[in-house]
Amino acid sequence: MKKRLTIALQQDLKRNLLKIKTDFLIIGVNEGKVLNPLSSKIDKATNGVIKKLIKRKDFEGKLGQHAYIAFPEGLSAERLCLVGCGKSNDSLSSEGLDKILNSIINSVKSSKSINVSICFPSLKYSNDSHNDSWFLQKTSTFLENKVYTYDAKLNKKNKTVNHLKKVNIYLESSLSANKQRKALKTGQVVGQGMNAAKDLANLPGNICTPSYLASTSRSAAKNYTKLSCKVFGEKEMKKMGMDCLLSVGNGSAQESKLISMSYQGGAKDEKPYAIVGKGITFDTGGISLKPPATMDEMKFDMCGAASVIATMQVVSELKLPINVVGVVASAENMPGSKATKPGDVVRTMSGLTVEILNTDAEGRLVLADALTYVKRFKPRSVVDIATLTGAVIMALGYSTSGLMSNNDKLAKELLDAGQKSSDKAWQLPLWDVYQKDLNSNFADIANIGGRAGTITAACFLSRFTEDFPWAHLDVAGTASFNGAAKGGSGRPVPLLSQYLIDKA
Ligand code: BES
Ligand code: MN
Ligand code: ZN
Repeated sequence: MKKRLTIALQQDLKRNLLKIKTDFLIIGVNEGKVLNPLSSKIDKATNGVIKKLIKRKDFEGKLGQHAYIAFPEGLSAERLCLVGCGKSNDSLSSEGLDKILNSIINSVKSSKSINVSICFPSLKYSNDSHNDSWFLQKTSTFLENKVYTYDAKLNKKNKTVNHLKKVNIYLESSLSANKQRKALKTGQVVGQGMNAAKDLANLPGNICTPSYLASTSRSAAKNYTKLSCKVFGEKEMKKMGMDCLLSVGNGSAQESKLISMSYQGGAKDEKPYAIVGKGITFDTGGISLKPPATMDEMKFDMCGAASVIATMQVVSELKLPINVVGVVASAENMPGSKATKPGDVVRTMSGLTVEILNTDAEGRLVLADALTYVKRFKPRSVVDIATLTGAVIMALGYSTSGLMSNNDKLAKELLDAGQKSSDKAWQLPLWDVYQKDLNSNFADIANIGGRAGTITAACFLSRFTEDFPWAHLDVAGTASFNGAAKGGSGRPVPLLSQYLIDKA
């Protein structure tokens, strides 16, 4: 995985604070009359610039507030930036930290700094699972994620220049330097994973095909001894009885692929955790064709797959002592003379027959056979990740992924991982009352039905996951941005990585 930044722990910063040569020195300042030790040292060296700013109310130290001083007298740093960290007695929430980090990255980017040093005062946290390790990990993920640029397909003169190359971080902490470094490293690898997922998401559908996802997975596996990759083509899937998955790619010239990656970090006989991704490299809707307005965004319909391929690399890079299986079900959903038609009935690998009432509800069709396939690994848990329904955006908007599960313990673990990594999900019910919406007159189940679109989609998947603890993440609203910021978001790589880190 590509590393876009050097992130280092700057242990000796406190001693060298005034002499440090950096483009940009960022100091966390608390709100209130008494300056924290770091700010106080800077204030004295700069002839009281911080106190003057506070007195004039130009800067008060409120969460995320910032003030900028060029060529500060008394310091070797070229620029000084004060960042508000709130009252020193207030405990920092995840949202509060986001405010601080956003403020920092905005001023770093607009100053075009190459080399930056950030100093945080000692912090208190509002949540039991938040501590200095969490803070450093999150900061590191944030920074690596924010220096991402996509310009693979741009002319050279249009490529964006990323100025920032190195960040030195100092935190007033009782945590050992080794533990601090480990947290920074973990966070950065998660950020790199987000960027790897974004790269796949942003590639256009004419390049990022099922075969492209397969070759990307294969080359990822070559980078790690404990990671392996197997790819099944259409012939092999036909032999395994995956007619349901195959029905989605019938109208496409691109060959459908089932990608099966395996990471062996634990004992050989230890049961693996499984993650399964929807990899529709373009979703036209098929014969149930989508309207044209924002159809280009359906190149993002492989974001579940991208998060699986990226998380497998995160796990490998972090050398987690567990076993993980990553499966991607990939096809292109096109209308064509051989395409599946509404009313067609297909047989799944599990034996259940499906009446395809709407060819645009294709994600669940590829996942059904992929979920049946993972049974052979006797997984401890299975999490599928899919841009499955537009309805989840109606329910939860663009900030929160939908989570549905047949196992409350697994659901809680995933919700916690999402909270911890600022990659939040919210649980929707998977009660029996919704199951009847999938009744069909002509097959065992229909592929659509009812009004609760996100839940009935999960109900469909639940018919193939009865043998293991399973959760489904609907990331249709969260895996990509639209509008001016159109592009992959790298989610839910943080949630998945955190879940597996916590298991290790
Ligand atoms: N890939 C779409 C879901 C989607 C919609 C993702 C908007 C991102 C943004 C999925 O394959 C789909 O088309 N779902 C249909 C299901 C319907 C036919 C029951 C939908 O949500 O409209
Ligand atoms: Mn669709
Ligand atoms: Zn789709």
